[in-house]
Amino acid sequence: METALQGIEHAYERSGKGLVLTVSYSPAYFDRFDEDLPESVALPAPKALAPFEDPELDTPDAVVHLASNTAQVVLGAEESLKGNKSTLNGVEQPDTALTDVFEIVDRRTGFVGDGLPAENAGDAEGVPADKVPEDAPLFMGFKSGFKKNQASEDRVTIQSGPFAGGTTQHISKLQLNLNQWYNQDDRWQREAKMFCPYHAENDVIEGTGDNLGTSSKIDDCKPVDETAREMGVVGHSQKSAAARENDTPIILRRDFNSTDGGQAGLHFLALQRGIGDFEKTRKAMNGTDVSKQSAVGQRNNNGILQYIRTERRGNYLVPPRSLRALPPAQPATNAQEVTDASS
Ligand code: HEM
Repeated sequence: METALQGIEHAYERSGKGLVLTVSYSPAYFDRFDEDLPESVALPAPKALAPFEDPELDTPDAVVHLASNTAQVVLGAEESLKGNKSTLNGVEQPDTALTDVFEIVDRRTGFVGDGLPAENAGDAEGVPADKVPEDAPLFMGFKSGFKKNQASEDRVTIQSGPFAGGTTQHISKLQLNLNQWYNQDDRWQREAKMFCPYHAENDVIEGTGDNLGTSSKIDDCKPVDETAREMGVVGHSQKSAAARENDTPIILRRDFNSTDGGQAGLHFLALQRGIGDFEKTRKAMNGTDVSKQSAVGQRNNNGILQYIRTERRGNYLVPPRSLRALPPAQPATNAQEVTDASS
């Protein structure tokens, strides 16, 4: 497995221009071992995370995530991992394939970046093609993943034990229904529901939100319960920010849109030190308390909940590089401890 992975790594530089990849393993994989995972790894099985969802729970052994700024690079790397290429980008490939040890049970594809959603909207149901802004990086029309609204890599890194230097990954598959988002809701509502009503009232966001710079300016929003009481609508970012620690988000989002199965969707991939950090953030996004105490509904006027349906959820451990090929649940040698969160 390590040889197969190195084959594609030798073909491209490790960057967006080339290829970036992770390999991760599910609780179902680690269940194969007699020993439990060390306590320093928080990797429960996936479960439903809202009272109104009933997702399929994923149990593949492993996930390989390939990403690049160039589509041909991920497609080529995939073929090489399947043993279908003798050379990749002019670099000779090993005789070993990932498919010598794994059977492919699922394949998810997607894109994120200015203009790509509008370009791909015609391939999918659930999104009015002519309404997605030409320059939007995501189907819902706004920029996401502002630098200051993401956890740092240090914050999501496992700090101790044999898997120190690794992280955990949650991957959900969300179906998007954007007909109402674009056809019935107006710009004010979209800004209020995605960010917060304060942003909509004060014209904080221009276009897709590039004018915001490195932060979604969510600190300017009023408290969630006050917004709910006064406006009857609360924003997605405003609610999700309630999960922050030390005024910083605790998950690192790497989500991207998709037209898999001819349906507009979003593969929500998030990295965090333990799966509990994801569950806490998702709970904040549910806004359950506020819906009980105000006119805000369980899903209506409650951020973007009305427009997304969680179809699948999966949890994974991304081991440090030294353990990325078929790790045991209790590796014998300690990987180097991460001593200082800021180092
Ligand atoms: C279709 C699905 C989604 C879309 C289009 C979306 C979009 C956005 C946008 C535009 C922002 C504000 C800009 C930013 O801070 O980067 C944001 C913030 C955020 N979202 Fe989402 N999001 C989606 C789903 C989710 C899910 C499933 C979660 C997981 C719980 C999540 C967690 C967060 C967090 C933690 C923030 C930052 C809050 C903070 O500043 O502390 N989002 N999202």
